[in-house]
Amino acid sequence: MKLKGTKIVLNSIPAGIPKKDDFRLKEFEVNEPVDGQFLAETIYLALDPYVRVTMVGRHFFSTPKEGEVPRGSTISRVIKSRNSNFNEGDLVVMESGMQSHSISDGKEVHFVKTGSAPVTTALGILGMPGFTAYSALLGPAKLKKDDLVLVSAASGAVGSMVGQIASIYNARVIGIAGGEEKCEWAMNNASLDACIDRKKDDIDQKLTELSQNGVDIFFDNTGGDIQNIVLSKHLALNSRVILSGMISQYNSNKPPSGPNLGNICKQRATIYGFVVYDFEHMRESFVKDAVDWYEKGLLNYTEDLVFGIEKTPAHFIKLMKGENFGKTIVQFMDL
Ligand SMILES: NC(=O)c1ccc[n+]([C@@H]2O[C@H](COP(=O)([O-])OP(=O)(O)OC[C@H]3O[C@@H](n4cnc5c(N)ncnc54)[C@H](OP(=O)(O)O)[C@@H]3O)[C@@H](O)[C@H]2O)c1
Repeated sequence: MKLKGTKIVLNSIPAGIPKKDDFRLKEFEVNEPVDGQFLAETIYLALDPYVRVTMVGRHFFSTPKEGEVPRGSTISRVIKSRNSNFNEGDLVVMESGMQSHSISDGKEVHFVKTGSAPVTTALGILGMPGFTAYSALLGPAKLKKDDLVLVSAASGAVGSMVGQIASIYNARVIGIAGGEEKCEWAMNNASLDACIDRKKDDIDQKLTELSQNGVDIFFDNTGGDIQNIVLSKHLALNSRVILSGMISQYNSNKPPSGPNLGNICKQRATIYGFVVYDFEHMRESFVKDAVDWYEKGLLNYTEDLVFGIEKTPAHFIKLMKGENFGKTIVQFMDL
């Protein structure tokens, strides 16, 4: 008899903030791996903001149709292998999507390497989000000592690593986060020198007080009003802008009209459209450095974790409302 799995499928393509009815839980029969493949069971599923963008066809990854499983990175355990590079029991990071089992040919699959850190960090600070911060800062942002770095969504998986890596390199960091609790956490754990509460503070006024000559690196995770304010007035001469993410527009089916980029020119700023997958050549040094920093006690993180595949839609909706606090993860089964 074939093994039964469970998956989340799209009932409908969400319009605006996703609703529970946009998703449904479905059973499926798990296929057997053929030569060159392995079968894995999902232990942890990461919920990442870009998945919402794939649903409206504005991402370079394919657009899921109604009835299909949305994307998702997972920590999975190999349970049957017909691929000589993978053995039963191996823990891997792979793109299984929102489902309990998946088959892979091993391409773009990485072994979990987190040293003494908990394995879930392979989806957060020691995984793709942490690698985004690392490769962008040490790559195109050309991070250096005494730079003033501004990062939005500063308590999040990407943002908190931006603060901590910048601080390890002796730069100063201003964060922007939503609410007092997130600002307090980021000040204490993500090495911020100052935090602007996007829900309460006047961002323009605060930035004028905190960075009289503008910021050297703007690591933009949100886009929207924050991006407009920073690009129009708060860049230093020769600054570097990393366009990492624009979560403020992910729930909208149409992209918004663009900002006035006059100040980019005046300040000779470099804007860099950043995609972490272009920086595979830095993965090995990232894993080595980040595990080493964790083991020296230099890295903190927070997770927003729930148990049970059936909680996936509600947890994804929480992320897309900006109500998550930390790396958003669903645990499907015990490790
Ligand atoms: N370019 C790449 O290769 C790459 C790779 C990974 C991630 N990213 C991007 O990096 C960003 C952060 O990802 P993450 O996984 O670390 O998520 P995260 O920061 O853990 O969670 C998302 C956060 O975004 C903020 N937010 C949500 N809606 C917002 C809105 N309308 N306006 C302003 N802020 C809003 C919220 O934080 P506050 O309430 O604190 O503002 C929310 O907690 C996303 O935009 C993602 O797409 C890019």
